[in-house]
Amino acid sequence: MAHILLRHRDVENIHKLDVYRANGGYEGLKKALTEMTPAEVIDVVRASGLRGRGGAGFPTGIKWGFIPKDAEEVYILINTDESETGTFKDRELSEKNPHQVIEGAIIAAYAVGAKRIYNYFRGEFMDAGYAMEEAVQECYANGLLGENILGTDFSCDFVCHYGAGAYICGEETALIKSLEGERGQPWSKPPFPAIEGLYSKPTVVNNTETMANVPQILVNGAEWYTSMGTEKSTGPKIVCMSGHVENPGNYEVIMGTTYRELIEMAGGMRDGKAFKALLPSGGSGPVITADALDAPLTYEGLDAHNSVMGSASVIVMDETTDMVWAAQKMIHFFHHESCGKCTPCREGTFWMEKVLHRLMNGQGTEKDIETLNSVAAQMKGRTLCALGEFAINPVLSTIRLFPEEYKAKVKNSQSEDWEKALATQ
Ligand SMILES: Cc1cc2nc3c(=O)[nH]c(=O)nc-3n(C[C@H](O)[C@H](O)[C@H](O)COP(=O)(O)O)c2cc1C
Ligand code: SF4
Repeated sequence: MAHILLRHRDVENIHKLDVYRANGGYEGLKKALTEMTPAEVIDVVRASGLRGRGGAGFPTGIKWGFIPKDAEEVYILINTDESETGTFKDRELSEKNPHQVIEGAIIAAYAVGAKRIYNYFRGEFMDAGYAMEEAVQECYANGLLGENILGTDFSCDFVCHYGAGAYICGEETALIKSLEGERGQPWSKPPFPAIEGLYSKPTVVNNTETMANVPQILVNGAEWYTSMGTEKSTGPKIVCMSGHVENPGNYEVIMGTTYRELIEMAGGMRDGKAFKALLPSGGSGPVITADALDAPLTYEGLDAHNSVMGSASVIVMDETTDMVWAAQKMIHFFHHESCGKCTPCREGTFWMEKVLHRLMNGQGTEKDIETLNSVAAQMKGRTLCALGEFAINPVLSTIRLFPEEYKAKVKNSQSEDWEKALATQ
């Protein structure tokens, strides 16, 4: 398929303004500013069915519509924190075709009446940041940012900001706190950012890939966009393939492509080994097994398999993978990245990592699975943000799908207690 979001792979030097413009760049912005009212822009995005690519899949047009019409100060925040395990799509988009993201964000700013856009980068994304800063300077020099954009009444600024490499700062409220210069910790919603966001003003937070979709929706229309994908999951999606596949990398597909097809696209299983399981949403979503490989990549596609598409970072694992080890790696990440603000997550991730470490080191007891279940139950629904919910997913799903691997870690594993604990899964 021709690339839509990954057009830079087909068009050399599209990161440069003149090349981007020669290939239809900023036509979407021109159309919005000169032919459409802000409300019409929101209507087209709503009709396209575009949903947030940051993971939660909230409809973008509806989110923009939440911004109060009479607000005097509104902000757009592009979320380029991208710290989920196995996710690297926003990095490629920012490095290789920054104008596409900038154009989408200026269109969003016009739609909601924002005069300032912030792009919050993961601290380590310096190359992405340099590419974006260069593109921003080109825009200022060519009347695409600053005062009277494209000769219209609309004016808007663009600021790049760099975090310090914290996963939690991808969560929108922690991101806002970090941008304000405070400790990057989430707050309990409501208030939602659309009402009280950056500097307590209405704010739209959108993922980088979400923004990248906007220009072509404006140019080609909502119908073109809904002609791709399924009824509830429209358009193209960049999938980050990693793990035990021959050719890891970003793959742009139309929503509805199956996980089996994705593995084939990535060159199949590495060294011809057999497939065992995959994490469909980096470390955050429950593991799936071979019975789910024909499920479509959509927001709802994995419902029947108790999992989620999330931001579509697919980590593939072959027959050689120890699933208890995989769960330990994931919980290590979440424990390390927990911001510590709420007790269930701060303590729960700590204890789950400790227990898994013990299991992995041959010192597990029959009670360990019960302890993992109990800690997870005390975290579920009790944490301030979704990080705590994400953290329990790889642990509980591997216990559910691979009980025998946990069992094998414990000596004398046939006791009644052990069977009872497994049966609760
Ligand atoms: C722990 C955590 C980390 C997150 N990291 C990111 C991230 O790196 N990038 C992102 O776009 N969204 C991330 N999100 C989701 C954001 O809070 C928010 O929903 C998203 O930026 C909204 O944009 P969208 O509607 O375009 O998806 C994260 C959420 C949580 C709970
Ligand atoms: S769930 Fe974890 S990351 Fe989120 S606020 Fe609580 S301690 Fe912080």
